[in-house]
Amino acid sequence: MGKKALITGVTGQDGGHLAKLLHEKGYDVYAVIRGQMEASHPRYQEVKEKMPYVNLVMADLLDLSALTRAMQQIQPDEVYNLAAISHVGYSFRDPVLVADVTGKGVLNMLEAIRLAGLEKTARFYQASTSEMFGGLDYNRPDKGYDEDAAFHPRSPYGVAKLYGHWITKNYRESYDMHASCGILFNHEGERRGPEFVTRKISKAVARIKLGKQDKLELGNLDSKRDWGYAGDYVEGMWRMLQQDQPGDYVLATGETHTIREFCEIAFKEVGIDLEWQGSDVDEIGVDKATGKTVLSINPEFFRPAEVDILLGDPTKAETVLGWERQVDFPGLVKLMVEHDLNLEA
Ligand code: NAP
Ligand code: GDD
Repeated sequence: MGKKALITGVTGQDGGHLAKLLHEKGYDVYAVIRGQMEASHPRYQEVKEKMPYVNLVMADLLDLSALTRAMQQIQPDEVYNLAAISHVGYSFRDPVLVADVTGKGVLNMLEAIRLAGLEKTARFYQASTSEMFGGLDYNRPDKGYDEDAAFHPRSPYGVAKLYGHWITKNYRESYDMHASCGILFNHEGERRGPEFVTRKISKAVARIKLGKQDKLELGNLDSKRDWGYAGDYVEGMWRMLQQDQPGDYVLATGETHTIREFCEIAFKEVGIDLEWQGSDVDEIGVDKATGKTVLSINPEFFRPAEVDILLGDPTKAETVLGWERQVDFPGLVKLMVEHDLNLEA
């Protein structure tokens, strides 16, 4: 019998990559999908059609009884908690729901494992985030944040994730659970939701190239992110649960780039050279060849508090886990634009 893995968040970006990886590694893969989701829902159908090897279990992260039943029925060897309301901007609009799902949902998962009597056998992965650092206490400009850096979350999402992070560590220390936290910096790719900036850009660039859209509207162009490829990051999650001891690990690239740079490279991929004109909310990006405005600022996308810079130091993951990345920054932008050109054509 193969090992059994239970994933939450399978309909999201990382869940799809992880389900595939675990299936390829010979696991029996189970995934929690929200109970209210109709079988006709496109995301449900995507999992059914593209990942037929995934056994679906209905449960919501807010529903401790359903999660406990799932743990009792499946008796998983490994549990990967990827489910969350994960959009930082949205978390300012609905902070209470985000606290419940992204924060308390983690406690529900840990309690479900305990209630099912699996705390000594099931290994647990919590999807922690670089948003917990927040950028304010950034004092290692050369190396970036590592596992010991101070936290200073700047959004309701970051605060909720910090609760999830600490309650996971608390269950590790209190009940001797093999519970690990991956502190992941931004990771992107062809499965990224269109509400996140990289996919919004790659999709718009493809549509502008194909004449299906005139212009892309963005918020802050000058924040910096440490962007990697999601497919590389799920391998790191799995490696954390293969260690003899649980622990916390930063997964990052050690490079940081502005949104502006992402835009420049993405437009270049389709043969558009961007020229920046104006400043602040009046700044625009112009196609040098045609003089057409292809990018402008919409203050609607500014956040009440911003994380100006994220840069991670993955030394521990590289040395202890032997974690490696296959896709670099220009490769990531290219992969996303090419994917969207094919999708939109
Ligand atoms: P994502 O694409 O936003 O996916 C979120 C998943 O959570 C979806 O499958 C969603 O299901 C599920 N979900 C939301 N509310 C739920 C609920 N109440 N009950 C059950 N499931 C629920 O996120 P992602 O990019 O794959 O990220 C995976 C995890 O890593 C998240 O926890 C995120 O916060 C964290 N993280 C991500 C990054 C990154 O750069 N991607 C970096 C650090 C940490 P529906 O389809 O039903 O909505
Ligand atoms: N989403 C979005 N939309 N962001 C924009 C836009 C826009 O139109 N314009 C500028 N930005 C800026 C945001 O202000 C932010 O500084 C940056 O682009 C990245 O935004 P997102 O792509 O939404 O990602 P995030 O960094 O806020 O959060 C992601 O990474 C976290 C890890 O650091 C999410 O995946 C989180 O779930 C994850 O924890």
